[in-house]
Amino acid sequence: MALSDQFLFFKRFMQHPLQVAALVPSSRGLARLMVEGLTFEPGEGVVELGPGTGVFTERLVPLLPDPSCYIGIDRDPVFVPLLRKRYPQLNFVQGMAEEVDRHVREAGIRRIKAVVSGLPWASMPEQMQRDIVGSLNRLMQPGSEFRTFQYLHIYKYRTSTRFRAMMSEWFGPYRVSRAIWFNVLPAVVVSWRRAEETSAVTAAPTTDDSSPPASATEAQPQCE
Ligand SMILES: C[S@@+](CC[C@H](N)C(=O)[O-])C[C@H]1O[C@@H](n2cnc3c(N)ncnc32)[C@H](O)[C@@H]1O
Repeated sequence: MALSDQFLFFKRFMQHPLQVAALVPSSRGLARLMVEGLTFEPGEGVVELGPGTGVFTERLVPLLPDPSCYIGIDRDPVFVPLLRKRYPQLNFVQGMAEEVDRHVREAGIRRIKAVVSGLPWASMPEQMQRDIVGSLNRLMQPGSEFRTFQYLHIYKYRTSTRFRAMMSEWFGPYRVSRAIWFNVLPAVVVSWRRAEETSAVTAAPTTDDSSPPASATEAQPQCE
């Protein structure tokens, strides 16, 4: 990780503390754990939410048989041009994770194998968390995996537990990894997998998310 990335990241944190929500980019150790065991067949897509300066992106690139099956979404107008320059083969959208399903649809990616998130759940208001989880619910198909990291010191904060509870309403129980201590600040990876045997339609309990979930049968492999 270049020192210039660390400075840029810190500068953006000072300008937008709640959105960037970390002093420096995640460590290599955390990045390795975020992608550990992920494999992609041709046509299987990956979404990265909040790639920042691209520490997880760097680990994802060698796993992708087809770079057109990647989409990275970050709201930050400084990080996105940097990512586009660094990974010209990948598609980065400057946009909101709340609309991840729309961004993925517009990118023509039909099958999502994994969503890798760097989003700062603990600093988000409830409605923003709800909107993103609702959008993920419309996006993720049976067998899709969602991974995020959460800092240990705020793992039990109300905003952190609220996010996990929202996710579990739709995606069931989650797994928590070992702690990565060599990270600013120490963190764990939390992951959910949408059950294979249920579709987005049948898995969905009633919530206040009124948008219709996408039927899993609509999914057609496209980016292959
Ligand atoms: C904690 S940083 C993580 C960056 C990188 N993944 C890492 O681990 O070093 C959070 C990132 O999420 C982005 N972000 C925050 N809220 C967002 C939202 N609602 N939609 C899209 N990106 C968002 C920020 O701009 C920032 O790049």
